[in-house]
Amino acid sequence: MLDLSYREWAEKDIKYVWHPFTQMKDYGQDDPLIIDKGKGIYVWDLKGNKYIDGISSWWVNTLGHSNERLNDAIKRQLDKIEHVLLAGCSHVPAIELAERLIKIMNTSFTRVFYSDNGSTAVEVALKMAYQYWVHKGYPEKNKFIALKNSYHGDTLGAVSVGGVDLYHKIYKPLLFDIFQADSPYCYRCPCEKQKESCNFECLNSVEKILEENANKVAGIIIEPLVQGAGGMIIYDKEYIIRLKKICEKYNILLIDDEVAMGFGRTGEMFAYEHTGITPDIICLAKGITAGYLPLAVTVVGEEIYQAFYDDYETLKTFFHGHSFTGNPLAASVAVENFKILEEENVIESIQPKIKKLKSELQKFEELKNVGDIRHVGMIGAIELVKDKQTKEGFSFEKKLSLQIHKEGLKRGAIIRPLGNVLYFMPPYVITEEEITKLTDIAYDSIKAVLE
Ligand SMILES: Cc1ncc(COP(=O)(O)O)c(C=O)c1O
Repeated sequence: MLDLSYREWAEKDIKYVWHPFTQMKDYGQDDPLIIDKGKGIYVWDLKGNKYIDGISSWWVNTLGHSNERLNDAIKRQLDKIEHVLLAGCSHVPAIELAERLIKIMNTSFTRVFYSDNGSTAVEVALKMAYQYWVHKGYPEKNKFIALKNSYHGDTLGAVSVGGVDLYHKIYKPLLFDIFQADSPYCYRCPCEKQKESCNFECLNSVEKILEENANKVAGIIIEPLVQGAGGMIIYDKEYIIRLKKICEKYNILLIDDEVAMGFGRTGEMFAYEHTGITPDIICLAKGITAGYLPLAVTVVGEEIYQAFYDDYETLKTFFHGHSFTGNPLAASVAVENFKILEEENVIESIQPKIKKLKSELQKFEELKNVGDIRHVGMIGAIELVKDKQTKEGFSFEKKLSLQIHKEGLKRGAIIRPLGNVLYFMPPYVITEEEITKLTDIAYDSIKAVLE
């Protein structure tokens, strides 16, 4: 690496790099945050400042930065082979990871299809679901149901099933048509019910779509328990239990996008485990490698797999694959991640931290702009409003997210709110004391911006 000063790197960054989900005009006005190294829940920038990584580097890092076991797993694999194609070929890390996944998941899941990020895991799920119905003799089942406020990635198929206008609306002319159902957004209930007395009326919109169109619908895609990028909208498991019954009644597939929630984030290894139901297709990415390298899987059971299993001439092959599908370095670190999760009893060990996070969230209630506080597992979210009574939010022009982010940095934490929703999603290695510290920083940052 060139031995340049922070200032020189910053100038080059602004000059050459186009950052994702970032208005570059804003970005260029401040000193860029250039991260140099990390350890555990902390990262250090090039200037030497230390920050708590309060959002796990975009929800990927579960076991902390620079974990020695994970580092060593990659180094060991690197000396064998860095990459090999997975089409008509295989390698040991991919095989071992697939076996571990199938063994740990509900027995209904039997097959693992690799790709390389969350969006591609979703693209695979959508194509697979549609093609499944074609092979079953129902080609007219070519539409999907997705929820308002949903986010499933940034490729065009994933955007088609997305429901966040701010990110998705502009691409509408490029997208395929879907049916959009209500979001289980209790704080802003689409059916104007109260959480305590509701009977999941938001599911009526799914049922209504299916009453009229079930023969055209391949499946419904959801983010289980938490609609993440749509605003950390946390909802009850009962919604999923009832949705599964609706899927069975109308013969459509339930696609469970656990890209963000899988691998312990909700307090169980997979979010669907809270519900006792089994989805038909599961998408996993992010935490699969503990946030180390891009890797994703779409996992299905035998019913779907067998619909593709036939003589080549029938052209039932699943024609999908990315150059870096199932990369061996990524698969080997994912295998080590599994070993750590098991050997170090990680899911059990985070239970007290989950309680701690929940209790720390209570202090936000007293702030005058806190409209709603949401929590599940290692996620806490705070929805900020102009007025608690009317629930009116701040307009996006206020750039609340950016302002709080900057205040957070000044105080030593990376917190990057989603619009009006400030959230915590720290690596699981955070201690209870550090949870207090992180939430205190967020508390002070909100006060600095809004009071
Ligand atoms: C639920 C969900 N699905 C899919 C994706 C897309 O994953 P990736 O950013 O790896 O493409 C995300 C990313 O945040 C997500 O939260």
